[in-house]
Amino acid sequence: MSKSIAGFSKLSKSKKIDWIVETYFSNTEDAKRILKQYWNTDEKLQQLHDEFIENTITNYYLPLGVAPNFLINDKLYTIPMAIEESSVVAAASKAAKFWLERGGFKTRVISTTKIGQVHFIYKGDYEKLKRFFNKTKPKLIQDSKSITANMEKRGGGIIDIELRDKTADIDHYYQLHASFETLDAMGANFINSCLEQFAKTFKNDALLFQAFSAEEKQIDIVMSILSNYVPNCLVRAEVSCKVEDLSEDSSMSGETFANKFIQAVNIAEVEPYRAVTHNKGIMNGIDAVVLATGNDFRAVEAGVHAYASRHGRYSSLTHAKIENGIFTFWMEIPLALGTVGGLTGLHPLVKLALELLHKPSAKMLMQIVAVAGLAQNFAALRSLTTTGIQQGHMKMHLMNILNQFDANNEEKQTITEHFKTNVVTHSAVVEAINKLRVSKLRS
Ligand code: MEV
Repeated sequence: MSKSIAGFSKLSKSKKIDWIVETYFSNTEDAKRILKQYWNTDEKLQQLHDEFIENTITNYYLPLGVAPNFLINDKLYTIPMAIEESSVVAAASKAAKFWLERGGFKTRVISTTKIGQVHFIYKGDYEKLKRFFNKTKPKLIQDSKSITANMEKRGGGIIDIELRDKTADIDHYYQLHASFETLDAMGANFINSCLEQFAKTFKNDALLFQAFSAEEKQIDIVMSILSNYVPNCLVRAEVSCKVEDLSEDSSMSGETFANKFIQAVNIAEVEPYRAVTHNKGIMNGIDAVVLATGNDFRAVEAGVHAYASRHGRYSSLTHAKIENGIFTFWMEIPLALGTVGGLTGLHPLVKLALELLHKPSAKMLMQIVAVAGLAQNFAALRSLTTTGIQQGHMKMHLMNILNQFDANNEEKQTITEHFKTNVVTHSAVVEAINKLRVSKLRS
């Protein structure tokens, strides 16, 4: 039976671990050993990680892989990807190579506006509220100057603030709906600080607005927070080539492949059950790069899926067509990313990942991430509509199964060789390991 604890966050790291292992583990020494196995021997580096969050007890590793040969707007990139799923980096690399030989990826940033809102309750006359808002709007911006000065120097800042009437949805509910340009920063702290300042000024100035009644003066701020829905922070990635150039060998013509591929995209456009899996495959690429570059993948996920439902039905993020003998495959997605601030200047591997990408601006990173998503979707649909997904997946999963059985390097080599010409299934791999081990014992 586990127990509650008061003041846990104030305990030292080693006392926290003592409490955890004694409360939850039968083999306390083993649990401690595993936790400590992942500590970094460089104490400064470990302290940096300890201080990212509260109550750190160890580090959680994910592999950082790279997918080379991405030609984006005629410049070559090797894309860093942090992900645990066996086939993702291999699929990205394959798609990169395929499109490298066909002109590469073309990308462009469509817009970079981010949104934040002050949600408030006002019980009174809307016309008076509008007059108050118009009067106080310059002051909202003026009172935020200490927060916005640096961003403005670099060309960003507050774009606009609107008053929105939401009383059709909730009685007395209104918003200050603000738009921002945050340049190379993801901008969450900047936006939230501005919004909290707007809320303060708005509430205080309402008390002084002569036309308001005593009740109208009492504006009740519910909350001030940025939105992770960023349909106007949009990037486009695209590949195209002659239909006949899509064919790699004689097993399928370019035209047959293109038509099947487009059918698969069309299905994801109209069928939400398929669209979710289709988009999940896109997010395999996107999240991996977002994570490797120290960005907030939960924000990206939430914003992208909301965008995929913007017409009232969850749908494919990618689209494909043939026009005048040219196959085009593209995607437009919202991505609010940063290449300065947050983890980008703190985590040594994030810094390394950004350097690998030629130290991109946030706009360039948006394009790289979109390409990783499009490439991933291309690779998945290509497998799904030709060989089926399991052939590639199980080949990549083979190593995981071998590791589950503690295979040594020699066993791994022999069995990998065997499965170059045999179908990988879990039971076939187990059988192969057992056979190999029995024959070893006999010899
Ligand atoms: C697996 O992680 C992703 C796929 O299911 C995506 C798809 O079906 O398009 C292969």
